[in-house]
Amino acid sequence: MWDPAVYHRFGNERSRPFFDLLARVDADEPRAVADLGCGSGELTATLAARWPGARVTGLDSSPEMIGKARSLDAPVEYAVADLRDWRPAADTDVVVTNAALQWVPGHRELIRRWAAALPPGARFAMQVPGNFDAPSHRALRDIARGEQYRAAIGEIVREAPVDDASGYAALLTDAGAAVDAWETTYVHLLPEAGREHPVLRWMEGTALRPVRAALDDTRWACLRTELGARLAAEYPARNGFVAFPFRRIFVVATIA
Ligand SMILES: C[S@@+](CC[C@H](N)C(=O)[O-])C[C@H]1O[C@@H](n2cnc3c(N)ncnc32)[C@H](O)[C@@H]1O
Repeated sequence: MWDPAVYHRFGNERSRPFFDLLARVDADEPRAVADLGCGSGELTATLAARWPGARVTGLDSSPEMIGKARSLDAPVEYAVADLRDWRPAADTDVVVTNAALQWVPGHRELIRRWAAALPPGARFAMQVPGNFDAPSHRALRDIARGEQYRAAIGEIVREAPVDDASGYAALLTDAGAAVDAWETTYVHLLPEAGREHPVLRWMEGTALRPVRAALDDTRWACLRTELGARLAAEYPARNGFVAFPFRRIFVVATIA
């Protein structure tokens, strides 16, 4: 289950890639704009502000996230839906999907299908994290392989579920699109906050969410302690902050 409050612990750091992505989308007056995996809707609302003439929709499979999004009262139609079932309308001129496709096995096939169905000139803009080989994720994978966790979370803690930017660029140029693809490593300076390691608090908002759901309270507490110790060794604090490098993958495609 997604928890909007935990996800928003590091709101500025999490929203910056969205704005860096959208800065490369040069659509002028799109008729319809879709945000797939829109989360709690604050970022979708900025799409409605940028393109006031567009019909903006946001969909997310989490009722908690969509509940929060609707409470914003922005001019956006929000829906609880699985993005795997989404089909572009004939007037969908912009599709945005930020930090969502890494959760969707088979998303490469979806991208191919959307690229084939979008109207000529439409923009498809995506961002996914590319940090699955970072020390944080390697530590989680090591721990998940341990005897006491393997059965419950061995399958949940995944090897990289995404391609690099070149992989998505190839997929979309194969579909005839003009592609702008890049990668950025942000160095987030996370403030120390009490006894809890800030990277652990970050991971609780995303990668650890399915892990928490699969473990009982005792094993979850053990895993947090073990992972916290590993993270403290990998990401030491300096001057009150922990430097947390975070690679992200961006693609903006213009459909032929
Ligand atoms: C990390 S959050 C990103 C939210 C938002 N796009 C942002 O940038 O803040 C990932 C979102 O993807 C949604 N999600 C994951 N799998 C999905 C699916 N199959 N269909 C729709 N939404 C999905 C989750 O519910 C979650 O809200």
